[in-house]
Amino acid sequence: MTLRDKRDIPVSTTNRASLDRLEQASELLHGYFNDPIAVIDQALAEDPDFVMGHCFRAGVLATTSDKQFEPELRRSVDAARGLSAKANDRELRHLAAAEAWLDGDMARSNQLYGGILVDYPRDLLALQLAHVEDFFLGQSSMLRDRVARVTGDWDKDVPGYGYVLGMHAFGLEEMGDYARAEERGRAAVAQNPRDPWAIHAVAHVMEMQTRLADGVQWLTERADDWRHDNGFAFHNWWHLALYHLERGEADRVLAIYDASIRPTRSDMVLEMIDASAMLWRLHLRGIDVGSRWRSIADSWATKADYANYAFNDAHAMMAFIGDGRRAAADELLATVVKSAAQSGTNGMMARDVGVPVCRALSAFGRGDYATTVDLLLPLRPIAHRFGGSHAQRDLLSLTLIEAALRAKQDRLARALLSERIELKPQSPFAWELVARARDLAGDKPGATQARGAAQSLARPRPARASA
Ligand SMILES: [Fe+2]
Repeated sequence: MTLRDKRDIPVSTTNRASLDRLEQASELLHGYFNDPIAVIDQALAEDPDFVMGHCFRAGVLATTSDKQFEPELRRSVDAARGLSAKANDRELRHLAAAEAWLDGDMARSNQLYGGILVDYPRDLLALQLAHVEDFFLGQSSMLRDRVARVTGDWDKDVPGYGYVLGMHAFGLEEMGDYARAEERGRAAVAQNPRDPWAIHAVAHVMEMQTRLADGVQWLTERADDWRHDNGFAFHNWWHLALYHLERGEADRVLAIYDASIRPTRSDMVLEMIDASAMLWRLHLRGIDVGSRWRSIADSWATKADYANYAFNDAHAMMAFIGDGRRAAADELLATVVKSAAQSGTNGMMARDVGVPVCRALSAFGRGDYATTVDLLLPLRPIAHRFGGSHAQRDLLSLTLIEAALRAKQDRLARALLSERIELKPQSPFAWELVARARDLAGDKPGATQARGAAQSLARPRPARASA
């Protein structure tokens, strides 16, 4: 006999308490609240044969993208494998998908979770895990389209519908469909005001459209909905800091960094990525971040010898360069080169993107800006292969532009900035960079005009949207 969950999906257990705990853990997971693992562990302590509990636990641990959790992930996969005679079709497929992830084949895992959704379109766990994988794999179109495949099987009366809208909003945003993304994201937040992923999707729209006042208002007005007891809060703080950085408000950025992005030493990889990226953006602007690099480099130093995801490695490299740790940077590069020789998803990521990015950052650290340009320029069309969002990968574009300016390659800087202004005409920072490129080319009136545009755009103004 089996029970069915809130979305009418069969779960092979007869233990109502176990299913209730799974529902509770799922609710925490979908809203990124703390701590779904603790809840599912309670269920498994009382009911060790609860196979879907093990599959759930494996999926959640895999999303950390942190090898320190690999032993626990393996424990869950092994436990589920040992119970496979009791598992139903969907649970066996969850097990296979988690196993593929554990084995380093995220692309296959992604296909397997996606396959579950064809037959069980209301499997919100499979949808979220596949969505996170699409993010890690840099598959922008699938961030949108995988969610679109299931929307016909959902409506507002199915529990968790808001989360589906929120995921769809993020996919639409990553595909540049900003108006629909915002509309979907706002609908998701109306359904569930405490959905940090949906709030984040709208924040991305405002970031991409450089709607700085709207973005600050959107995140600050509903901060109480996303900042408490939430494993994703650090990232929404990071987005809030980005708006302030765009306006050149470095003090405000550092205050947010110290209070909320990295208030204490955290060795959680996803938090370390955002901390490193924010410090690197400040570093590119020549802003002194004091001793902050030391703390984040210390955290990366505990991870560098088991690099398993090129996107993480690139951020570790920023920290080592920022903190002046040449030896650690060289060691990390050697590890990433080794990863690039391996099969599996990360082998591809390291080969295609990780190695050249780490070399480019290392060259930037040495002041060899021409080499940074040579390495980063060809990467622009393929950088998505190592995952992340457009907003996160924008760091590579900013590094490339800064390197071109410092290498005095004024024609290239001019071309890259023309591209940037087409994408972000309202960006004060883009206009500041244009001014520097015009200075470099000896165009004084052009530089003055661009500086004027930057100053005017950076001035705080009222939000235009009713957030
Ligand atoms: Fe984001």
